[in-house]
Amino acid sequence: MTPHFLTVEALKKVYPASGEKSNPPVFEDIHFHIEKGEFICIVGHSGCGKTTILNVLAGLEEASAGNVIMDGREVKGPSLDRGVVFQGHALMPWMTVLANVAFAVSSKWPDWPKDKVREHCTRFLTMVGLGHALDKKPAELSGGMKQRVGIARAFAIQPKMLLLDEPFGALDALTRGTIQDELLKIVQATHQTVFMITHDVDEAILLADKILLMSNGPGARIAEIVEVTMARSRTRAGIHHDPQYYKIRNHLVDFLVNRSETYSGAEAEMFHDSKNPPLVQPGLEGERAPVFTLTTEKGISQALHAKHAINQ
Ligand SMILES: Nc1ncnc2c1ncn2[C@@H]1O[C@H](COP(=O)(O)OP(=O)(O)OP(=O)(O)O)[C@@H](O)[C@H]1O
Ligand SMILES: [Mg+2]
Repeated sequence: MTPHFLTVEALKKVYPASGEKSNPPVFEDIHFHIEKGEFICIVGHSGCGKTTILNVLAGLEEASAGNVIMDGREVKGPSLDRGVVFQGHALMPWMTVLANVAFAVSSKWPDWPKDKVREHCTRFLTMVGLGHALDKKPAELSGGMKQRVGIARAFAIQPKMLLLDEPFGALDALTRGTIQDELLKIVQATHQTVFMITHDVDEAILLADKILLMSNGPGARIAEIVEVTMARSRTRAGIHHDPQYYKIRNHLVDFLVNRSETYSGAEAEMFHDSKNPPLVQPGLEGERAPVFTLTTEKGISQALHAKHAINQ
């Protein structure tokens, strides 16, 4: 069996308590994997630990237990193999837009002459609609523009894996749509591997191959993996015409509203095998039964539970 491009095993995070009482883990027993070229979104309520997981994948934070293997190597610290777009924009305030991106590009390719760096950075900044703002400083930009500089910077280093933490959260609906389209185009052309956090279920359905549903903390888990079974060539304008879209959307919303609380702590132990969260295909409901990775007793009860939820 060929190894997965990225494997996350038994990940757990406990933050040290400030008082005497110890903190419960934010999440534990998190297992999932990503194949090369896959676009994975993770969805879950605020505070369940999505950013913490992304920071561990980026090598910016240490997990309390478990490990992350990318391309055959354990992730132990930050690397230019992984491009990160943060929830806040994390730009260097004294540098121009162009210099912020050029700094990352020159770190990745130290031998490139200045002209080549400039041309490369300009291409990615133009792609996010900032070709006119190359010489501005971050303080002169709106929140959405700063966020777009962060996006251009992450793409420009052409990382093995892109890690995006709600990258479009600060953008107005119009700009958000345009950049989603751009991202879709680039990802389809480059087969970039992406791990993205979003609160927007429509965005997740548009962009993702698979959506990881994370339960509420403390002790959050990956409750389920939803496969987006619609053709990869989906577009923002056409997606609403696909009957699968509503089935998938309802499934995601139902999870967030009704089911996300039930997969942590003791309850999770009883009916949920965190090592193999069920892979479901709500878009094909009625055409094909959901695919479950388990054949054990636990798996059967898990399947029944998920099926019940789908049929509600
Ligand atoms: N440095 C820290 N020290 C202590 N607790 C922390 C620290 N960073 C995060 N936490 C806690 O860990 C939990 C998960 O935080 P995280 O930022 O990963 O959540 P999230 O799922 O990304 O939330 P959101 O959707 O609001 O961005 C929260 O309860 C938060 O209070
Ligand atoms: Mg977050």
